[in-house]
Amino acid sequence: MADKLIIFDTTLRDGEQSPGASMTRDEKIRIAKQLERMKVDVIEAGFAAASPGDFESIKAIASVIKDSTICSLSRANDRDIAKAAEALQAAQRKRIHTFIATSPLHMEKKLRMSPDQVLEQAIQAVRFARNFTDDVEFSPEDGSRSDMDFLCRVLEAVIKEGATTINFADTVGYAIPELYGNMLKTLRERIPNSDKAIWSVHCHNDLGMAVANSLAGVMIGGARQIECTINGLGERAGNTALEEIVMAVRTRKDYFNLDLGIDISQIVPASKLVSQITGFAVQPNKAVVGANAFAHASGIHQDGILKARDTYEIMRAEDVGWSANKLVLGKLSGRNAFKQRLDELGIALESEADVNAAFARFKELADRKSEIFDEDILALVSDEEHAHNNDAFHFVSLAQHSETGELPFAKVIFTSNGNEVTCEGNGNGPVDAIVNAIDSKVQSGAELLLFSVNAITTGTQSQGEVTMRLSKAGRIVNGVGADPDIVVASAKAYLSALNKLQSKMEKLNPQI
Ligand code: KIV
Ligand code: ZN
Repeated sequence: MADKLIIFDTTLRDGEQSPGASMTRDEKIRIAKQLERMKVDVIEAGFAAASPGDFESIKAIASVIKDSTICSLSRANDRDIAKAAEALQAAQRKRIHTFIATSPLHMEKKLRMSPDQVLEQAIQAVRFARNFTDDVEFSPEDGSRSDMDFLCRVLEAVIKEGATTINFADTVGYAIPELYGNMLKTLRERIPNSDKAIWSVHCHNDLGMAVANSLAGVMIGGARQIECTINGLGERAGNTALEEIVMAVRTRKDYFNLDLGIDISQIVPASKLVSQITGFAVQPNKAVVGANAFAHASGIHQDGILKARDTYEIMRAEDVGWSANKLVLGKLSGRNAFKQRLDELGIALESEADVNAAFARFKELADRKSEIFDEDILALVSDEEHAHNNDAFHFVSLAQHSETGELPFAKVIFTSNGNEVTCEGNGNGPVDAIVNAIDSKVQSGAELLLFSVNAITTGTQSQGEVTMRLSKAGRIVNGVGADPDIVVASAKAYLSALNKLQSKMEKLNPQI
């Protein structure tokens, strides 16, 4: 019988550590529900001690998710672990994931601790975590740059204390597949009680090898858990992409011979949801979830595909959920059809009043755009959620004028803490004019780091989804706005980014 490969998703924790990718509680719940629908084994819902917001998000996810194990990260100290345990209380299956750095560089420069102190703290942390759950994961941070003898001492000791999963972290994406796989193999061979734990891999993509390293950790090293994120979201160059791991293991079952519990039809919907919520667009040529992943441009390939699909296709687009974005609703669709589609997409709005408000937005959109796709509904629900947040700024309306040879002009009306504000501005383009108009009242002092527009579906009628990444005083946030008029989408994105900058969501990075 084939072994099971455990899929541990850390989009909501490691993914959220990506600058600008912070998510609200409701957004995290929506993603967690999608991960559950995809049958992810373990969902790392956050780092409970990072902030009250993180704590509340984990608590909410722990109480709504039934089929996946819910995990919280915690540093190796009693306070973090107790917070994690408290946030996870309602979970049907809970895991505490504790970690401490083990590389000479991290111990000396970051922790300023001796190896013996680190060893002792790791032991204490696992012992304390076991008071709350039998499912305890331990990660030696920067494991791939750690001394093997020291790693053996630490890992043997934490397994003895009851760690049930050992996660060999390539924190800075330094590993090379063969070397990484062999390190893991050596650890498992040298540590006498290694068979008492499940071994896991956690790889960053700094050298573009996160997926390759993870798979080498499985095939050479014997890991049976992979930590990964949707779209490879994660710090710096990101983390191991869940969709690539799952489709590699499945498509090449002849080689990997591992079982997965994942419902692959939910992969593309999950990718779109995460991209839409975080504002991190998926590159068109990204494996499995990129818009071109199944597009056959060359005539020769198309001819081959028409004769026999498998000439050039090793996976089927519809199997990973690409067909889900078909036309779903139109102008004449009623409230029931709309509600049913929300249910099918796993979107549970809190009250009937929320459904009515979302339906009113849907009707408004359907008046301007004859075909409404799933992506439109996701964007609309996000808009509706923002309208309900305690955000300071909300978009009301916009007038804008651009003409060759003239300086673009914008007049924007928005509300600031419930009061209507009207502002005007000029700029070297329509978006610059909008930003200048809003800034004439808000004086944000923020720097625009990134501006991107994507059509969220096909056709010129598509809504444009704008992401604006702002930076101020060391904080980076992403604002997202969608509208058939990309200038309006830009104004919404700018206000959404300003809201995030205003929120006092100070969050501790667990690894700093
Ligand atoms: O990259 C890393 O080392 C981590 C650990 C906390 C597992 O994210
Ligand atoms: Zn990480």
